[in-house]
Amino acid sequence: MSRTVKSVGIIGTGRYLPERVLTNYDLERIVDTSDEWIRTRTGISERRISDADTATSDLATAAALKAMKNAGVTAGEIDAIIVATATPDMAFPSTACIVQSNLDAEKAFAFDVQAACTGFIYGLSIGEKFISTGDAKTVLVIGSETLTKICNWEDRNTCVLFGDGAGAAILREVECGEGILASLLGAEGWKGKFLTLPAGGSRMPASIETVKGGKHFIHMDGGEVYKFAVGVMPAATLKVVEKAGLTLEDIDFIVPHQANKRIVESAAKRLKIGNERIFMNLTRYGNMSSASIPVALDEALEQGLIKKGDNVVLVGFGAGLTWGSCVINWSR
Ligand code: ACO
Repeated sequence: MSRTVKSVGIIGTGRYLPERVLTNYDLERIVDTSDEWIRTRTGISERRISDADTATSDLATAAALKAMKNAGVTAGEIDAIIVATATPDMAFPSTACIVQSNLDAEKAFAFDVQAACTGFIYGLSIGEKFISTGDAKTVLVIGSETLTKICNWEDRNTCVLFGDGAGAAILREVECGEGILASLLGAEGWKGKFLTLPAGGSRMPASIETVKGGKHFIHMDGGEVYKFAVGVMPAATLKVVEKAGLTLEDIDFIVPHQANKRIVESAAKRLKIGNERIFMNLTRYGNMSSASIPVALDEALEQGLIKKGDNVVLVGFGAGLTWGSCVINWSR
């Protein structure tokens, strides 16, 4: 028996950022860096830092509660919880199961997605499939990270870039022709070595040596990731717009992954899209990996930058290396 494919959209969003702010000036006292270097090379001025007792699931739960309120959805109505994170509370249980328990979302199934900074777009695309095929009615997708807990605070190449936060979205069926019009996911696993957290898994189990060697921190070849990002961001945008049967002129707003101002501006230039059509908040938060896009989306909505009927592109890249993009016709 064939199934009817339903249109799926975001009916509510929410975000949560830890209160503590770490400015570039604070970082000047920690590593050999300067506010001037960080701002001119990345666009970042400050980032949020979670405290020692706070885990990724805590941020995720707070963002989810806001998205649920915004969407008018109760915990009992949620059929699936997908948490995109590169910084889970622990290897297992999944952060999604911990969030399920926090929310008392008893009937939901729950799992994590690991696609680093692209994770929220991966989660959105997976969640959409459950609803469009009729296997779920209401899906909660969260991007949540506590990246500052895996930063090496002695490595100026990486520790200035990242911040903590969480963003969430509720997905449901929407009017035919609205919601997610197209999505594309990709990976170039052979480039994975450019961005890794080497230890703590089966390849390099945790040991005194791995801790001493700083193998539980982010290791990044910034130049290679930069090259990947400036190529893939415009390409993934163009491809998904084409897949949706639209042109760039039909796109009202782009919410890109917030890693580096220069990467976003380079993508905008290649796409010949004015800065007023691209959202950026990385100056206040840095790169929050999977949380960057949903937090940016929630802020853009709050600021009235996205209206009903607008065509919005979400586009990101991250460790893996992965990339993803989607076009959403805004339905609220
Ligand atoms: N403060 C001062 N100097 C610094 C700092 C710092 N924080 N960091 C690096 N430098 C120095 C370097 O040591 C180097 O010095 P040298 O020339 O004496 O060796 C110099 O600055 C230039 O370094 P570059 O790497 O060439 O700087 P660049 O302009 O490329 O910017 C950056 C580096 C910001 C990391 C850039 O390459 C970038 O943004 N890459 C992409 C990173 C990214 O997006 N990561 C995504 C992670 S996604 C995820 O999934 C977690």
